Amino acid sequence: MAERGQEAARWYALCAAGALDNGAIHRTELHGEGLVVWRADDGRVNVWEDRCPHRGVRLSLGHHRGDTLQCQYHGWRFASGDGACRAVPAHPKASAPPIHATTWPAIERYGFVWTCESADRAATAAFPPIDALAAAQSQDCVPLRTTTIDADLASVRHALSAYVLPHADAAECAVFECEFGTLTVESLDGAASSAIFVLQPARAGKTRVHGVVPGEFDAAQRLALQRTHQARLNAVRDALEAAGHVQAASLTEALTEALAASSTDAPEPNRAARAQPLPVAVAMPLVRMDAARRAVSSAVDASRDEGGPFTVHLARSGGSVDVPANISLLDALRAHGVEVPTSCEQGVCGTCLTRVLDGEPLHRDAWLDARERAAGDCMMVCVSRARTPTLTLDL
Ligand code: FES
Repeated sequence: MAERGQEAARWYALCAAGALDNGAIHRTELHGEGLVVWRADDGRVNVWEDRCPHRGVRLSLGHHRGDTLQCQYHGWRFASGDGACRAVPAHPKASAPPIHATTWPAIERYGFVWTCESADRAATAAFPPIDALAAAQSQDCVPLRTTTIDADLASVRHALSAYVLPHADAAECAVFECEFGTLTVESLDGAASSAIFVLQPARAGKTRVHGVVPGEFDAAQRLALQRTHQARLNAVRDALEAAGHVQAASLTEALTEALAASSTDAPEPNRAARAQPLPVAVAMPLVRMDAARRAVSSAVDASRDEGGPFTVHLARSGGSVDVPANISLLDALRAHGVEVPTSCEQGVCGTCLTRVLDGEPLHRDAWLDARERAAGDCMMVCVSRARTPTLTLDL
């Protein structure tokens, strides 16, 4: 990631503003940086580094307390706006320590919450008008559910260039790129329909697609539009994520076919979209993906009650530790004199992160994300165990 403050402020949408309603706390990423987004009771939106400055626990696991966000580990509270620590429950009579949550620029505009990679807090004033979104906001808008795609932003942008609006052919649609990863898809057939997508580069190989459809629609039309666009975005996502298996056509061709398969002239587009099968080139990888998901799911089910014994080999010391059922890996390591730095011992702070050199961990923490879990090359030894009879750890 470019150093913050070393380039002109570039704004990115992080979530729909409505995602923060009713005290919701939203976790997201921008270029691999974990961020927590929340709105205080006075309406102010905050974007902070998702890490408590006290012991590093994710603040997104915490609690909304009106004008503060409270870390769930030791209960320290951090104030909306400057992120300053306001209270430490263990020392109610002492002044709060002079530490802050790390704040990022935050602004709510065009129905989204935005931040920018700039150390300049005054950058908020420099938020530029985004013409497509400004025009859309001048009328009613239908929000689309955010879709997360395991592909980089350039690939997603390329794939969306084949996006087809409902009730239009591919040749009748044009895609225009606006500011800051904003794509506008417009119908050229005079129907004046369009959709606007805003791309969020969450991390290398992961992009989030936010979207709105401008126009005034009744409740049934709004629902049909949301379903139809979701079917199309799902087709984009599935084709991109299975791109390595598509052999019969280029990615763009496969996407065009998939999007066409989900198109419909019916007033309720989603029914027709589901009724038409995807073309073989795209459907086959999806069948394999479904089978893989089922296999993973049943493996997870089977392991739900796993608490059985396993053996840990210690790569650095050369020793081995047997971990009986009902004894945590951390306790077993300690009993053998192997010290691992810890803090929460609940799987939420990340302090005990340990590299896995061989074997498959059974993750039971709240720290690793899905991608890190799937990689299987690290684990939290305070709460996690093993799926395989042995593990080799970098200890
Ligand atoms: Fe906090 Fe293990 S000690 S995650």
